[in-house]
Amino acid sequence: MRLVGILTFVFMAALSLSAQDKELEDKVNKLMSELTLEEKVSLCSGRDDWSTEPIERLDIPWIWMADGPHGLRRAPATNKAGYGDQHPATCFPTASALSATWDTDLIYKVGQALGEECQALGVNVLLGPGVNIKRSVLGGRNFEYFTEDPILSGELGAAYINGVQSQGVGTSLKHFVANNVETMRMFMNSDVDTRTLHEIYLTPFEIAVKKAQPWTVMACYNRVQGEYGTQSPYLLTNLLKEEWGFEGIVISDWFAVVDRVAALKAGMHIEMPHVSSVNDEILLKAVQEGELDEAVLDNLVKEILMVVLKAKSLDKEDVDQKEEEHHQFAREVHGQAITLLKNNKIVLPLSKDKYKKIAIIGEFAANPRYQGNGSSEVKPTQLDNVLDIIKKEYGKGVKISYAQGYNLKDDNDFTMIEEAVQLAKESDVALVFAGLPLHYESEGIDRKHIDMPAAHNQLIAEVAKIQNNTVAVLTNGSAVAMPWIEQVPAVLETWLGGQAGAGAVADVLFGTVNPSGKLAETFPVKLADTPAAFDFPGEQGNVLYGERIFVGYRYYDEKQIEPLFPFGHGLSYTTFDYSDIQLSAKKISDKDALVVSLKVKNTGAIAGKETVQLYVSDLESTLQRPEKELKHFVKVELQPGETKEVSFELSGRDFSYYDAKRDMWIAESGSFEVMAAASSRDIRLKAQFELESTQQVPMMVDKYTFAKELWDNTETRELLKEYMPNWINGWVPEGKTMDEANIPGFFMEHPMIKFPYITNNEITHEQVNELIERCKNITYAPSYRTFKEVENVSF
Ligand code: BGC
Repeated sequence: MRLVGILTFVFMAALSLSAQDKELEDKVNKLMSELTLEEKVSLCSGRDDWSTEPIERLDIPWIWMADGPHGLRRAPATNKAGYGDQHPATCFPTASALSATWDTDLIYKVGQALGEECQALGVNVLLGPGVNIKRSVLGGRNFEYFTEDPILSGELGAAYINGVQSQGVGTSLKHFVANNVETMRMFMNSDVDTRTLHEIYLTPFEIAVKKAQPWTVMACYNRVQGEYGTQSPYLLTNLLKEEWGFEGIVISDWFAVVDRVAALKAGMHIEMPHVSSVNDEILLKAVQEGELDEAVLDNLVKEILMVVLKAKSLDKEDVDQKEEEHHQFAREVHGQAITLLKNNKIVLPLSKDKYKKIAIIGEFAANPRYQGNGSSEVKPTQLDNVLDIIKKEYGKGVKISYAQGYNLKDDNDFTMIEEAVQLAKESDVALVFAGLPLHYESEGIDRKHIDMPAAHNQLIAEVAKIQNNTVAVLTNGSAVAMPWIEQVPAVLETWLGGQAGAGAVADVLFGTVNPSGKLAETFPVKLADTPAAFDFPGEQGNVLYGERIFVGYRYYDEKQIEPLFPFGHGLSYTTFDYSDIQLSAKKISDKDALVVSLKVKNTGAIAGKETVQLYVSDLESTLQRPEKELKHFVKVELQPGETKEVSFELSGRDFSYYDAKRDMWIAESGSFEVMAAASSRDIRLKAQFELESTQQVPMMVDKYTFAKELWDNTETRELLKEYMPNWINGWVPEGKTMDEANIPGFFMEHPMIKFPYITNNEITHEQVNELIERCKNITYAPSYRTFKEVENVSF
């Protein structure tokens, strides 16, 4: 009954929405006929720092855009930068913490809360989420991005967008695309091959666009394959609009535009912020002189007006910012993000029976670090700290003592360690709060290493020497090295938890909340182990994506490197058992859905949440593929002893690679394996199936196509038999047919351009060209074939 009700509501909403859209479109068409060329041009750039250009004469309003992503940074006015004097807003955990929740429903709710705050403060478009991939652990904005995995980034991004936009507020999906380095970010060229671009870097944007239709997409500062992101027709028009069906507008990152005319031609709508009137004049001249077709400008302006008018029509009056409610919600969210990395000897949760004297060590406990540096900096409505919260909410019946341990203003001040060690010695348990100070993680600056300040590392090591019950409680927005890991029995990764994070940390430490966060990024032992170690941050304006598709856990798998903590890892105060994996079929086609189901049981004594990760492995592939790739995930809550069945529906795309030669996704016939896992290195269940591809892909024959490829295909084999029968017959054993020819591998490797030479001109160069033409229309069902290796190379 309830479902029917919801469906009817959705259907009615869709109906009325389309009527609204129609009305909007009529209004925009009318405005288009009234706008002068100058006015149209002016609409293609911002009015000032944060607003779009209004046209008072025609009652065209302006809208307010503001950062983003984990809270609202709304300047006092649209023409003020808004650093330091921004309006207070709820600072939620940053994206790297949000991603550790692996919880799309929760991220949707965070989006809703952010949307409410935007409505309360008059903001129409929130500049986020950032779904760029964490290619290197050194990336300065890693705290602001979700993960190293394209599917997880895309799904979380879509949930965030749907949440914000459910409140009548738009989002800006950023930074499109391959914006993975901060060094020289205004001109760095992301030198990434086409397959990798699609499989790793474009996929999160594709998912977010298709599942959530953000009102705007923000084009990046950097160049991609040699072309600025703001002026790439392929990215902004062919892919975003035509292939993915993006219905919104593209805005530039702030000051990202280089060539205004090229940008508009490519499909970029609005230059942000207002840079100079010179830019408008350039555009005007380009239209007047025929360099830019006015019809192109008209299309863009029409789309801009659709977004502006829609945004204004959804403006709500008198919305409450719900400061207190959102503060509590931010605490709840962070409780789901905190990741228990290690808990030997079950040091945690802190039990008051076991620990009467608790030492809280480290300045972060009193002076929290809760977000990153740069444009995303939120002015919180209030700010909690762990020391006060623990004393207030958990301090009854226990002695809580504090030692500063280090000095946040001086990384190399070791003078406070001794006092902290003494306190730890006199206590039953030592909680050492350490991590990365604010200046370590910033927009615009990449990290140079992954170490915490020397004083923090030494503090943890020294305390652990004299106190067996030492817990390292880490505050950082991205991966760090842990040289003391063997000495410390428990490590709690608390990320950058936002303004209410301290309460969540206390809740997890004392067991009010059972930790359920899992790493959305691999923690390496050392920088040299990381995928982009050789190619980051790039040099001479170019960053080579040398590790190709082997980003994050894909790389550690391929290189068989043991990470410090693997992607997907996170412990709980309870335990889970996986069983009974079932596939809906043992053989499918790329058009069928494959349903994978399994059971998860809480085998411990308390309630908890587990994120089940589903990886897919292509066991035999024409192209090189990662050992496994995350395709689906789900977070389930289980009471002690409870079992739940979870299921995932997989489709052709889940099995596909991107073929750069043919510019298409291909799901090849062959054997595949699905793995249900608790982390990328903790595979619990496996099952195999066969895929039979129904796709037909073009042969893509050219003068470098080699003999074996043509011989393996039944249609092209017939052509070879027609053009070079004598040569083939030369390899046919007595009494056998031509199809049974035993052509040596050495000759199978020869490309068509050499056919006249190897066949002693039985086939001429002209005939080779003719053969190429005849092969061009031939298609085949893709399957695993050994194009790369020619077996039995013999002479
Ligand atoms: C950042 C964007 C941000 C914009 C507006 C840029 O420097 O890259 O993420 O939204 O500024 O503050």
